[in-house]
Amino acid sequence: MSLLRHSYLLSILLASPAAAQNLDSLLARMTLEEKLGQLNLLSAGGRASPAQMQLARDGKLGGLFNVIGAENTTPVQRIAVTESRLKIPLLFGLDVIHGYRTIFPIPLAEAGSFDPDAAQATARAAGLEAAAAGISWTYAPMVDIARDPRWGRIAEGSGEDPYLGSLMAAARVKGFQETIFATAKHFAGYGAAEAGREYNTTEITERSMREIYLPPFKAAVDAGVASLMSAFNDIAGVPSSGNAWLTDTVLRREWGFNGFVVSDWTSVAELINHGVAAGPSEAGRRALTSGVDMDMQSSIYVDSLPALVRANRIPMAVVDSAVMRVLRAKVRLGLFRDPYRARTTPPVAETRALARRVARESIVLLKNEKGLLPLNRNTPTIAVIGPLADSKLDALGPWHTLGQPEDVVTVLQGIRSHASAAQVLYARGAGIEDSSTAGFAEAVAAAKRASVAVLVLGEREDMSGEAASRSMLGLPGVQEHLLEAVAATGTPIVLVLMNGHPLILEWAADHVPAIVETWFLGVEAGNAIADVLFGDANPSGKLPVTIPHSLGQIPLYYNHRNTGRPHEANNKYTSKYLDVPVTPRYPFGFGLTYTTFAFSNLKLSTARARASDTVTATVTVANTGSREGTEVVQLYVRDEVASVGRPVRELKGFQRVTLKPAESRAVDIRVAVRDLAFYGLDMKRVVEPGAFRVYVGPSSAEGQEARFEVIQ
Ligand code: NOJ
Repeated sequence: MSLLRHSYLLSILLASPAAAQNLDSLLARMTLEEKLGQLNLLSAGGRASPAQMQLARDGKLGGLFNVIGAENTTPVQRIAVTESRLKIPLLFGLDVIHGYRTIFPIPLAEAGSFDPDAAQATARAAGLEAAAAGISWTYAPMVDIARDPRWGRIAEGSGEDPYLGSLMAAARVKGFQETIFATAKHFAGYGAAEAGREYNTTEITERSMREIYLPPFKAAVDAGVASLMSAFNDIAGVPSSGNAWLTDTVLRREWGFNGFVVSDWTSVAELINHGVAAGPSEAGRRALTSGVDMDMQSSIYVDSLPALVRANRIPMAVVDSAVMRVLRAKVRLGLFRDPYRARTTPPVAETRALARRVARESIVLLKNEKGLLPLNRNTPTIAVIGPLADSKLDALGPWHTLGQPEDVVTVLQGIRSHASAAQVLYARGAGIEDSSTAGFAEAVAAAKRASVAVLVLGEREDMSGEAASRSMLGLPGVQEHLLEAVAATGTPIVLVLMNGHPLILEWAADHVPAIVETWFLGVEAGNAIADVLFGDANPSGKLPVTIPHSLGQIPLYYNHRNTGRPHEANNKYTSKYLDVPVTPRYPFGFGLTYTTFAFSNLKLSTARARASDTVTATVTVANTGSREGTEVVQLYVRDEVASVGRPVRELKGFQRVTLKPAESRAVDIRVAVRDLAFYGLDMKRVVEPGAFRVYVGPSSAEGQEARFEVIQ
């Protein structure tokens, strides 16, 4: 890997003035059709079609995606670099989202580890596997902030928080880009789809855009991301794939991004449906002049724009800039030097071990009454019940790329191998979306014979991800009834959840003694879950999203503003509902462990700080339980008085701390005062003088408090 890393860095060095000069002369030799060809990106069905090969030969193709395997990338690349007039290599893209062949936890799960190093490691491993198969460019990381659990793509991102989302974005970019190019997507605002309905319109103020939705993109850009993907959605009528403010003013001018922007799948053509273009030519013109360099799958740039450029309706300089961005990326990636890319065999055992470690870290223990967990591996009889208990495909989650069901260890398999002396009774109970209760009797009978029942319930792998919005966030089908029927046996129940949408499960939260949120953990799901169930691993994951009590509370997120009438229990005329609490069921940042931690003695390094200072918060964290465990120590701030109302809490730092029983440690978390800035009335970033409250604790709803003052 170090060799590959080395060659990648080398390729960046090779993107030198000499290479730039070569590109200038290459551009000078290109026809208009060849220029627009570089901006044309098409999907292949596993391998390039004869028509696509001809486009490559004619210089009318900049890249292909969904070409699977080096045996398929090589022939079409050979055509591009030997048979086309200018011999420009193709980019090969693919959605390598949470693994290529070795499937890791979905990004939402991984965000719950609060471990950016883990995210970097899985991205690196996925990149290595993809690169070995001829892929040079992934459409990841997805860095959209999502505050609405109905939106299926919440599974693909890092949840609701811009700070956590930014760290994860940067980590993943760095991990992928050790071998392949990354794409921060979807630029921007896609996660704010109204009513959580996929592809829906959004209304986002410039302030929310800059403070909530854009920071992870900025972090990706600062981490050197090669490309961004323009989103499907519009923001108040301005589609993101034709939004010059986004792709030019903010991205290129303010942030200095010098990579390239690719559209999403036919999002250039979709400008017509958005109602901002009368036909393909107008759509293409709007997208290209807004700064979308590459047209994914619409073929509009290559088919419709030559005439517009010849008619001077699009300046040649606009085309040239876009082409140069794509060509520079190809140089930076080393494609001119090595179009087939250096190939190594990725390490199999190491990658599996990584998948298991990160899967364990991603698991969130939501409830554990009377210490039901961890289970004793000498339990004589364990019932394992539910449609997801032995499902290999579903454990892979959405976007499992080349993941193979046969690679998956299911929960049933994991439990069997961890508790080899136990009698394990398995009953599926029902299908994921079944309406039939025919399998209940077998499940109930198994639970009656067992001393504990592990129910593995949740969503099918394709019920989250793209085009998978849900309007109800309970367990699909009859699973809730199955849970209730098994609970009625009186056998203690452990509910293991597999899901891409955060689920709202009030009955379970009230009645089931132990609940383990596992999201979708990939190939090592069953081993990692069994590690946690039997106490080989102590859970340390935290929720990267807020879990509401009810659908009617959505959107519900921890970093909300206070309102003029914040909730008061005994005052009707305050901000609340008559029928549900105003607080969530489980707050952002929440997650239990098998031990207990106590926080005490929070101190700040200073009571007064200037904008250029750094404040260090020191808190004592003690392991007061009987097992070694890891706590995610979280620091939140609240700007008490500002010219614009600020959120009641904002995450500004965290640290994973592992402590042995009875061990305690003074934990330092540093916060740069300039990172407390917000967008003022004039929409400029400012840190206003005044008091800041600091909270340090185990979730967004708890913690020790301190205050300091920002002075001028
Ligand atoms: C559409 C999705 O929105 C995007 O995330 C993905 O990268 C492209 N399709 C390509 O598959």
